[in-house]
Amino acid sequence: MVARDVADWRRLATRTIMSGGDGDAKRRATIQKARPRAGEPRRVLVTGGAGFVGSHLVDALLARGDHVLVLDNFFTGSHRNIERHLREDAPKGRFEVIRHDVVEPFLVEIDEVYHLACPASPIHYKFNPVKTIKTNVVGTLNALGLAKRCKAKFLLTSTSEVYGDPLEHPQKESYWGNVNPIGERACYDEGKRCAETLAFDYHREHGLDIRVARIFNTYGPRMAMDDGRVVSNFVAQALEGKPMTIYGDGTQTRSFQYVSDLVAGLMALMDNDVGFIGPVNLGNPGEFTMLELAEKVRAVVDPEAKIVFCENTADDPSRRKPDISLAREKLGWEPTVKLEDGLRMMVDDFRERIEERAAR
Ligand SMILES: NC(=O)c1ccc[n+]([C@@H]2O[C@H](COP(=O)([O-])OP(=O)(O)OC[C@H]3O[C@@H](n4cnc5c(N)ncnc54)[C@H](O)[C@@H]3O)[C@@H](O)[C@H]2O)c1
Repeated sequence: MVARDVADWRRLATRTIMSGGDGDAKRRATIQKARPRAGEPRRVLVTGGAGFVGSHLVDALLARGDHVLVLDNFFTGSHRNIERHLREDAPKGRFEVIRHDVVEPFLVEIDEVYHLACPASPIHYKFNPVKTIKTNVVGTLNALGLAKRCKAKFLLTSTSEVYGDPLEHPQKESYWGNVNPIGERACYDEGKRCAETLAFDYHREHGLDIRVARIFNTYGPRMAMDDGRVVSNFVAQALEGKPMTIYGDGTQTRSFQYVSDLVAGLMALMDNDVGFIGPVNLGNPGEFTMLELAEKVRAVVDPEAKIVFCENTADDPSRRKPDISLAREKLGWEPTVKLEDGLRMMVDDFRERIEERAAR
């Protein structure tokens, strides 16, 4: 009886302990390997789980019965995105939040890691470029180290930015990219490229079960309204009666994936049982110019909304469109939400938040 109590106590203690670093041998000695526990839900860590994509992923994981731990430093994430899971009617005992920076080592007992922590919008990742690189490199090393210790599966959310300003259209996973290594975006682009390298080296060297997703532009409810990304910019501007700003002449193209499609793709990648690790493009191959996007936002929000043109930002790729044949073939995945439908759902959310803000 006593032995069982001690084992239970240890198990609980080691699940939530924060590591003092790799050299902390005393603590390491108490760590137990993650393993399937009969009757217990899968324990899934989502770094960056309070952010836009992460919070939708958390919803889906909780809905299918997983135990979810969010680890986030709340740089761009928000409590509003996840707080309902902490309320009375929440999935009791299956949701935990840890305020922590992935650049510092951390230790929890888990079966799977979805590693999302990293600011994704240019405004945020350029705010402190050195920190962005640390997050991508040191943060990913910490997350990989944790997965290795726990023998957990590890999924990295990489980005279409690894293709830089691509010379191939559409971009296939076999394309190595055209990135300016010393440009303003390099902290993110090269950071993610290095994160991919680290994931594959952990796989080759340590046999870690990894997955790498290259995400293309994603939009939807809960995007930060001030993140400078084109869809959130247009929607917020149109709703607030301001002109929609187009950087450049508006002929550059992007593809826009609705967030629920992305979440389905990430989970299909993590769960596939054919050992497919990627990298794999997850995006919507529909290609729109910025002007076409502005027209669609006008149609949903305000047909009278105005458009203004501004000088383009440095290293802005002129075209970006995913080739998703690999995801179709290996995961049986493809996006299903049309841009018009996704925009409507996003507009409802933005409208609610703008009204909430006005009422404060
Ligand atoms: N949204 C997209 O269009 C898109 C496209 C390509 C790749 N991605 C990738 O998907 C992931 C999520 O993107 P998102 O759009 O949800 O961005 P987001 O900025 O909304 O979310 C990122 C989350 O990570 C947290 N975070 C940032 N730095 C951290 C750190 N050092 N320690 C702990 N937490 C930290 C933030 O607080 C936030 O909650 C990112 O890795 C991003 O690179 C997103």
